[in-house]
Amino acid sequence: MLGKKLGIDLGTATVRLVIKGEGLVAGEPSVVGMGSEGDWSSVYGTAAIEAAAAASRQRLYRPVMGGAVVDPVAARALINHIVSRAVGRQRIFKPDVVIAVMAALPGDQRRTLLEAAMLAGARTAYLLNTTIAAAMGCGMRLSGPNGHCIIDIGAGKTDLAVVALESTVAGQTLPGHGGQRLHACIAAHIESEHGITVESQTVEAIIASLARVGPHEERRLQLRGTRDGDDREVTLASTELASCLDSHVRAIAIALDAVLADTPPSLLEDVRAEGVVLSGGGARLEGLDRALAASCGIDVHVDLEPHLCTVKGTGYALDNLDVMKRNFMYIR
Ligand SMILES: Nc1ncnc2c1ncn2[C@@H]1O[C@H](COP(=O)(O)OP(=O)(O)OP(=O)(O)O)[C@@H](O)[C@H]1O
Ligand SMILES: [Mg+2]
Repeated sequence: MLGKKLGIDLGTATVRLVIKGEGLVAGEPSVVGMGSEGDWSSVYGTAAIEAAAAASRQRLYRPVMGGAVVDPVAARALINHIVSRAVGRQRIFKPDVVIAVMAALPGDQRRTLLEAAMLAGARTAYLLNTTIAAAMGCGMRLSGPNGHCIIDIGAGKTDLAVVALESTVAGQTLPGHGGQRLHACIAAHIESEHGITVESQTVEAIIASLARVGPHEERRLQLRGTRDGDDREVTLASTELASCLDSHVRAIAIALDAVLADTPPSLLEDVRAEGVVLSGGGARLEGLDRALAASCGIDVHVDLEPHLCTVKGTGYALDNLDVMKRNFMYIR
């Protein structure tokens, strides 16, 4: 193998990378820094956030929001940073690059990403829908005729599909529907009902440890926040989160019903036998699997490492570029 093979999961919150033969590289926040001269500084992810905190002239840009490429210039910079970091300065052998994107990403944004990868020095660049990537990455064998159902719940979007023979049989994307929307709903509730503003990490901790979908024994958490500049402490009960959680789950359940209704009966039998699989960081929401199972009448499982399914799937695609080519949009 001459050039490296890179798989990139370009998420709304986190960008993840796999280098074939070297393994997964730790995820980084999907942000790039720009200096005061308007030049892209050489940092992205955590390093960019730290640089912006240390020097006020550094500004942060997020290329992806709600699963969509909202800032093409920043997207080019981010992809350039990632590819450079992975292949180093050595550019004699160019890398093959696969980027996973939300299934509903419009054509112009797809082109932006393919061009960004070519500008970053790729030999060939491919885009792969998150649903196909996540399904492969959580161990579904898509080369056969059987149907599989995957739901990827990220920070900025939820992508649902039934896939078979390496392509999508039925699918739906909920752009903007993900962990960030749930986060905003909970932060707004705390502000309106308890009168305090809490830090972003506090809301993430609430989502991870207090939030539970469906009926449950109430739990409580002490929160620190600020009101009119003063530190305040309040107690939040898990049951207070019901309305945010209900609307979050309902949208996914409705989309799942629609996707299953679009699935041919024989493939639906496969899905019933295997169950629906949840991937993405949002799959970790406690009780979500049981709530979706109850609403669709099919078992629902959460992958053991749901946040890594998509990037692992890009790695699998890199091993099968020839077979996968017909499913990709690509440039070489
Ligand atoms: N334990 C948990 N319970 C519920 N949600 C969680 C948990 N842990 C992380 N999350 C949510 O997962 C989201 C991040 O997921 P992920 O890393 O899959 O997103 P992404 O790939 O960056 O975004 P996208 O795929 O939407 O573009 C965050 O919004 C976070 O709130
Ligand atoms: Mg994602």
